[in-house]
Amino acid sequence: MTTELLPSPAPVEAPQPRPRIFSGIQPSGIVHLGNDLGAIRNYVMLQWEYEAIYCIVDYHALTSTHDPAVMRQRTREMAASLLALGLDPERCTLFVQSHRPEHAELMWLLTTVTPVSWLERTPTYKEKKQNQPDDINHGLLTYPVLQAADIAIYKAGLVPVGKDQAAHLEISREIVRAFNNRYGVTFPEAEAVYTEAPVVLGTDGVRKMSKSVGNTIEILGSPDEICKQVMSMVTDTKRILRTDPGRPEVCNVCQMHRFFGDDWEEIQDGERTARTGCVDTKKLLAARIIEHYAPARERYAELMAHPAEIDGILEAGADRLKPLAQATMDEVRTKMGLR
Ligand code: TYM
Repeated sequence: MTTELLPSPAPVEAPQPRPRIFSGIQPSGIVHLGNDLGAIRNYVMLQWEYEAIYCIVDYHALTSTHDPAVMRQRTREMAASLLALGLDPERCTLFVQSHRPEHAELMWLLTTVTPVSWLERTPTYKEKKQNQPDDINHGLLTYPVLQAADIAIYKAGLVPVGKDQAAHLEISREIVRAFNNRYGVTFPEAEAVYTEAPVVLGTDGVRKMSKSVGNTIEILGSPDEICKQVMSMVTDTKRILRTDPGRPEVCNVCQMHRFFGDDWEEIQDGERTARTGCVDTKKLLAARIIEHYAPARERYAELMAHPAEIDGILEAGADRLKPLAQATMDEVRTKMGLR
């Protein structure tokens, strides 16, 4: 007698966990074009492919913001901004750093493998020492260790950021390497992921766009404000007369057009041949930015009118991360001989 074998069923593949990414943003009260083009666009895109964790870093912000009411308000505003710009709480986890206090504990443990000299040479520390000479608090020095802890606690491998965070990311990698060497491999050395605009210059056309410099375009601000900020932008400083040919490659306004519309070549050509003047190019950019962010502006206003909804999303985010953060802390405490 022969036994007929039934064809074996196709193997069922277990769903693969999505690789994990992490990023953080300070509750600075405003979201500017540099934040969006340099980082937030990537947050939104990557939430589809990765297990994405995004954090509003209020502990970090305490190094410069000391008013509790301002801190609370800005934290909520930043959450509303990120949601309005496309973060989907069904696709990613959005939370507030201080709602997961394990970040602070891990930071302390990581300070013990971090030489002070690494922190003293951090460019942002040197900058802050100049910008806020009356408030050089210890948090400014330890800032990169907390950033390393933010990433390490979730064992994230990729970090979407702008280029200004490159030095911090490098220190994060050095810190986890030092930990891994001393206590055994525990954390991945996370890599930065950049957008097509890793450094967005401010309206002065020289320094990176930043709230502390005051050269921002506040994308969720009123159309009038956006218009004023764009019209104040410095263009090609060598183009004096309207009839002078422009140099689109050095004109910040022209460079920004690249991200708003599909006629960038034409716009560059217009400047190069003096067919269009700087004022024309700015007016067009302002109109496009206002139009591009109009739905987000609307959504932002809706969210801010329902703060309980925002708070609920943030709370759920922090709760969802609890087991992950606690598992890492258990592992780290054991490896360091704390239990
Ligand atoms: P923050 O709040 O200064 O900026 C948030 C994100 O926006 C990017 N960005 C820019 N990108 C291009 N051009 C610009 N002009 C520009 N301005 C801001 C920043 O690179 C950043 O990605 N230290 C961080 C927050 C942080 C963090 C972390 C980031 C804390 N822990 C862990 C990553 C992982 C900061 O102050 O970002």
